[in-house]
Amino acid sequence: MNFYFAPLEGITRYIFRNAYEKYYGGMDKYFAPFISPTDNCFLTPKNIRELCPENNDKITLIPQILTNKPVAFIGAAKELKSMGYNEINLNLGCPSGTVCVKRKGAGLLSEWYELEKLLDGIFEWAGNENVKLSVKTRLGRFEPDEFYDILEIYNKYPIHELIIHPRVEKDYYKGEPRLDFYEYAVKNSDNPVVYNGNLFTPEDIKKHDNKESVMLGRGLLYNPELAECYNYMSARDEDTESKESTGNNTESADYEFNFKRFWDFHDEIYHSYQELMSGDKNVLFHMKELWTYWKALYNDCEREIKHILKSKNSGEYEAALRILK
Ligand SMILES: Cc1cc2nc3c(=O)[nH]c(=O)nc-3n(C[C@H](O)[C@H](O)[C@H](O)COP(=O)(O)O)c2cc1C
Repeated sequence: MNFYFAPLEGITRYIFRNAYEKYYGGMDKYFAPFISPTDNCFLTPKNIRELCPENNDKITLIPQILTNKPVAFIGAAKELKSMGYNEINLNLGCPSGTVCVKRKGAGLLSEWYELEKLLDGIFEWAGNENVKLSVKTRLGRFEPDEFYDILEIYNKYPIHELIIHPRVEKDYYKGEPRLDFYEYAVKNSDNPVVYNGNLFTPEDIKKHDNKESVMLGRGLLYNPELAECYNYMSARDEDTESKESTGNNTESADYEFNFKRFWDFHDEIYHSYQELMSGDKNVLFHMKELWTYWKALYNDCEREIKHILKSKNSGEYEAALRILK
């Protein structure tokens, strides 16, 4: 099974991606958080720093574009192509109110005329330029039934991969993904589909083990070893099955989380942010965001985690880490 690391804006920046690849790896593709080109500014200096090949040379990175305008998409895509990218992802899933009100992200899913105009323009360009376009989508804006018509639209285009997060805009990230609609896509999509949503444990992934590729997001933040743990357990299960069939069944050792590796991973991100950003405030903002997920690694350590989340400078932060370690 192929694993894709989902784009997580503000989190899976190049520093995080490189540290993840160094300490964990196992991802076939990393999707970069969206960039938002306008008609007259396609890539900002920050976008270029995040996406330039020098900062991403150890991974397969797929840049993602959020726009509803063919001119802006193509302008940005041309620059990305000149940087060496031959696959680009279109974001049709962002549920943020400020994005959707401008009819971008999931907000474009109710504007079928505009959606088709965008897809017509960008697929014509991509066909001529030999660039693969993938799409990351939700089921619709308001009701999942919208997906029947939206999938018909997608079927008109040669989408390299249609990554489906089976929720609607108004679900945000709440509730269970609507798996029945995902299964509808598996049966009715003319393009390859990739599942994304709430894969938090190896058992969750196992339910999708008939798929060629899945995209993992928050699950890899809650547990950076998630994919590795899934692979370990699958290999163990296969081994047990073959031993059972030959009557030679022995217990496998249980999987254990490697905290030493986690702290090396943490330190690499922390020190890289310290080098890149001026002042503790910015660095701690980013580290604390990660800790809202990483706290799941530590049961019964609420007080210690609270110290981390309340720290006001690097001295307090590092002291709080020492207590947790
Ligand atoms: C903090 C955060 C930032 C996100 N940023 C992006 C983004 O830039 N582009 C995108 O397509 N999806 C974005 N998403 C959605 C995720 O890529 C993914 O679809 C979603 O988290 C569901 O997958 P999961 O349950 O495996 O996390 C973001 C989600 C979160 C929680």
